[in-house]
Amino acid sequence: MKLLVLGATGGVGLEVIRQATNRAHSVTAFVRSPERLKPFNGRLTIQQGNLLDSAELAHAIKGHDAVLSGFGPRLPLAKSDANLLRNFAAALTVAAQQTSVKRVIVVSTAFLFKDSVLPPAHLIGRLFFPSVVADASAMERIFMHSDLDWTIVRPPQLTDDPCTGQYRVREGHLPRFGFKISRANVADCIIKTAEKRAAVQTILGASN
Ligand SMILES: NC(=O)c1ccc[n+]([C@@H]2O[C@H](COP(=O)([O-])OP(=O)(O)OC[C@H]3O[C@@H](n4cnc5c(N)ncnc54)[C@H](OP(=O)(O)O)[C@@H]3O)[C@@H](O)[C@H]2O)c1
Repeated sequence: MKLLVLGATGGVGLEVIRQATNRAHSVTAFVRSPERLKPFNGRLTIQQGNLLDSAELAHAIKGHDAVLSGFGPRLPLAKSDANLLRNFAAALTVAAQQTSVKRVIVVSTAFLFKDSVLPPAHLIGRLFFPSVVADASAMERIFMHSDLDWTIVRPPQLTDDPCTGQYRVREGHLPRFGFKISRANVADCIIKTAEKRAAVQTILGASN
């Protein structure tokens, strides 16, 4: 597949490009800091630009089969990034409308699972990370009200453990006792969801 990867220089994003290139996909990374992708030179196309600019994003998206995103605010969260996910969703929705690319798979957060008891994801999110909850909710609302073929992957705490393929995925719910998942396994989930053309207009809970 021809895949455009956003947030490609982050933890999940680097795993998406590593695994997607290993699986012989044609990968383009649209990033603000191309120097971070030097180790991948020759294995993918790198485009520099601002993914919050819908015109630049539309130019990058054109001609791809799907957009895979590990994009999100760098931590600790800066005040200026309070609406970053919402602004990203708005830019991506407009950009996709300007192209014929409809398929997008994005990472959100398990904090939005209101029915999860163990872990009490929504409670923890509301108590300790209210701005993340607000911004991720706003992002999801924009995708859900768009005509894109979106899939939203909501992981709990991310770790740097390797890709094992040993993780659980539930539609609309966080798997029980799903406290963690590795960034590499989230990437695996994103890529396989794209390959299978599965879970369109669906929220996925993915955890160990
Ligand atoms: N940390 C957790 O435990 C946890 C749990 C659940 C969900 N999540 C979500 O999972 C996602 C991926 O997490 P991660 O740890 O892989 O993220 P990360 O390593 O912090 O990577 C974030 C990516 O987004 C890019 N980015 C951030 N701000 C940007 C901006 N203004 N313009 C352009 N690019 C920008 C970064 O680019 P640069 O390299 O240029 O900075 C980087 O590629 C995030 O959305 C996070 O909110 C995290």
